[in-house]
Amino acid sequence: MLARMTTAEKVGQLLQLNAQDDLEDIVVTRHAGSILHASPERLMDAMALAAQTRLGIPLLTADDAIHGHSFWPGATIFPTQLGMAAAWDADLIEQAARVTAVEVAATGIHWVFSPVLCITRDLRWGRVDETFGEDPFLISEFGAAMIRGYQGDGLDDPTAVLACAKHFAGYSETQGGRDASEADISRRKLRSWFLPPFERAAREGCRTFMLGYQAMDGVPVTANKWLLNDVLKQEWGFTGTLVTDWDCVGRLVREQKVCADDTEAAAVAVLAGNGIVMATPGFFEGAQAALANGLIVEADIDAAVRRVLRLKFELGLFENPRRPDPTRQAEVIGCADHAALNLQMARRSLVLLNNDGTLPLDGGLAGAAPTPRTLAVVGPNADDPDAQLGDWAGASGQADWMPDGHPRETVETVVDGFRAVAPGHWTVTHARGAEIGAMLPHPDGLVFPDGQPRFPTLEPASPDPFMIAEAVAAAQAADYVIAVVGDNVALAGELTSTATLELVGAQVALLDALAATGTPMIVVLVNSKPAVLPRSALNAAALIQAFNPGMRGGRAIAELILGQIEPTGRLPVSFARHVGQQPVYYNVVRGQRGDSYADLTLDPQFVFGEGLSYSTVEYSDLVVHTPELRPDATIRAQVRLTNTGDRPALETVQVYINDLVTSVTWAEKELKSYQQVLVGPGESAMVHLELPASSCTLVTADGRRVVEPGEFELLVGPSSRTVDLLSATFRIGVDSSALGSRESGVFLN
Ligand code: NOJ
Repeated sequence: MLARMTTAEKVGQLLQLNAQDDLEDIVVTRHAGSILHASPERLMDAMALAAQTRLGIPLLTADDAIHGHSFWPGATIFPTQLGMAAAWDADLIEQAARVTAVEVAATGIHWVFSPVLCITRDLRWGRVDETFGEDPFLISEFGAAMIRGYQGDGLDDPTAVLACAKHFAGYSETQGGRDASEADISRRKLRSWFLPPFERAAREGCRTFMLGYQAMDGVPVTANKWLLNDVLKQEWGFTGTLVTDWDCVGRLVREQKVCADDTEAAAVAVLAGNGIVMATPGFFEGAQAALANGLIVEADIDAAVRRVLRLKFELGLFENPRRPDPTRQAEVIGCADHAALNLQMARRSLVLLNNDGTLPLDGGLAGAAPTPRTLAVVGPNADDPDAQLGDWAGASGQADWMPDGHPRETVETVVDGFRAVAPGHWTVTHARGAEIGAMLPHPDGLVFPDGQPRFPTLEPASPDPFMIAEAVAAAQAADYVIAVVGDNVALAGELTSTATLELVGAQVALLDALAATGTPMIVVLVNSKPAVLPRSALNAAALIQAFNPGMRGGRAIAELILGQIEPTGRLPVSFARHVGQQPVYYNVVRGQRGDSYADLTLDPQFVFGEGLSYSTVEYSDLVVHTPELRPDATIRAQVRLTNTGDRPALETVQVYINDLVTSVTWAEKELKSYQQVLVGPGESAMVHLELPASSCTLVTADGRRVVEPGEFELLVGPSSRTVDLLSATFRIGVDSSALGSRESGVFLN
C-alpha cells in the first residue's frame, strides 16, 4: 500500500481533521487518513467521500467517548472516570468500557480517546473529573481495565474499538491548576509517578497514545523525542500509533514559538516520533515542504504512515470500513442491559463521607412498615440532567450537534430517583433553592483562533431570597431535606480550571438556610471534583459524594439514602479544607519540614481511600507470613475483618507499603494492592493478602526503578490515614549477605 501512495497521500494519512469543517477539503484535498468529532450525518458523508478517493483507503474515525459514547444521543453515559474510580472495582470498569465499545462500534466510530491516565494533583485543574484520581497504582489498574474493555478480544472483533492512553505524560502537573501550563517535572519525577500508568497501558496492548499539550523543561511533549521514541517505543516496545492533542503541531509555531513556521514544526513533530497529527491542517503543506527542503526524508514519513496503515489493517477496515449500522444501533444504544450496568456502576461510585446515624432513612426499604414521610429534595443539581452527566456528555460544549444534550428521559435525576424508588406512601417535594451561576458567552468570542469551541464563562449567582424561602419552606414541611449541590459544566473541563474550590453562587447561602431549619439534612455533592465545604455541609446529618454519577445516578442516590443499597465507594482523591492547601494528596514525598501552615493544618478534610458503610468494620490480627524474603518472592499476610454492625459491608481492604529507609527521598506510603470483601452483619472474615515484593520499588537518583533491600512496613486498613492502618514489618534481601544494603538495589525494568 505504502509503495502505491504519492507523497501527498502519505502525508494525508497522518492527518486527523475536525469533521465539523469542510469535508471535501479534509478528505479529497488533504487526503486525511482520520477524522474526529463527526456528527452522525457527517460521518456517513466523510466515509462515502473516502471510498471515492484514488486508493479508497478507509478513514479511521475517532471521538471522545470519555465515560460512554459522549455525543451520541441516548447512548449510555456512565459516571465520570473519577466517579468510576470511587467504585474501586476494575472488573466493573472493564465492563463499562466494553459497553461503551459496543455502542461506539455500532455508530461507525473506530477509536475512543480514553482512558485518561493523568494523576490528579491540583484540584483547581478543570479536568480532575476525567482522571481516576491521585494514585498511580489505581490509575494503572483502572486504565488497564478500560483498555481491555475497549479493545475486547482483539481489534478484529467488530465490537472492539481502539483505546487511547492520554495525555502522555505529565500534563496534570499544572501550575496553579491552570490547564496545559508548563509542567515543572523532571525525568525522575516522571518515572516515579507519571509514567507507570502509561507503561502499564503499553503492556496491556493499548494501541494508541495521545500526547499532552504542555512542555517540560522547555520541550513541548509534541517535540519530545526522548519521551516518544526512547521511552515509549524503544524502552517499552510500543508498536501502536501516537496522536498529538489538538493542533499541537500548530502550537509549536503559534503559541510555544519553538518553530518558525509550519514546515519546521512538521519536521520537528515527525522527527520526534509522532504518528497522527490532530487538527493541524497546515501539516499537509508543512510536511511536504519539509520533505522538499530536506528537513526530513521520505523514510521518516513512511515509518509513521506504516503505523497508521497497520492499525487500519488490524481493524480490518480494508475489508470492512465499519460503517454505522442502524440495525445494531437500535439493538445496543442505551439498551436495558447497558442501563442496568450503568445503574450498578452508579451505585458503587457513591461515597458516604459523614453519617450521624440518620442514614439509611427509617422505613425507606421497599415493603417496610408504612411510616408516611415527606422528603424535600432541593438544590440546583437535584434535577439538572446536564450537571449530573458532567463534562464530555451531550451539551457539554464540544459537539455542535447536541445543543440540548441527551434526551431528557434518558437521565434519572435525584428528584426522578426519589419519585421512582421511595415507598409509595411517601411524599417527595422539590425546590431548586439556588442557582450556581449564569453561563455567559466568552467575552473573547465563541471559538478560539484554532476553531476549538471557547467555553462559556460563569457569572456566579447571588442568593435569591424567594428561591431560598421556597426551599426553606419545603424543608420545614418535610421530615428530611436532601440538598443536592455541586458544580456544572461551566466549572469543569479544558481551560475551565477554577481559582477557588468553594461551592459557587448561592449554594452556601442555601445550605446555611436549610441547616437553620433544624430538619435533618443530607447533603449530596453532584460535582466534577472535590469541593471545599462550608460548615453547614460538614455538620449535616449525612454527606454523600456522588461526583458526576451518570444517567442513572439520581436513582442510585435515592436508593442509597433509603437504605435499599449499601454504601461501598471509597475516595480516589483527597479533599482540601481550603484551596490554599493545594496540592494535597496522600502519597507525598516524606521529609517536608513544612508540614503545616501557620493558619491552617495540612491535614486534608477527607483522605484518599476514605468512605463509610452503614455498618462498622474492625481490622485486627495483621500477620505477615513472610518476614524475610527475596525481591522475586511474594509477600503473604493476613488480616481479620469483623463486621460489628447490623448491615452487610463491602469492605475495601487497602494495602500500603512504607519503605523505611531509602537512598533517595520517597513517599511515606504507597498503595500497592486492595481487595473488596463482603462481610455479613456480625461476621468475621480472615483476608489473605498477597503482593509481589517486586512492587516495593522506588526510583533512584539516576532514574532507575529498583527494589532496595531492607526493612519495609506493610500497612493495612480502610483508608490512607495513618491512624486507620495496622502495621507489620518485613525485610527484603537479595540474599542473606546483602540484607540491609541499599547500594545493592535490584534493577527492575
Ligand atoms: C483536546 C483534549 O485535551 C483531548 O483530551 C481530546 O481528546 C481532544 N481535544 C479531542 O477532542
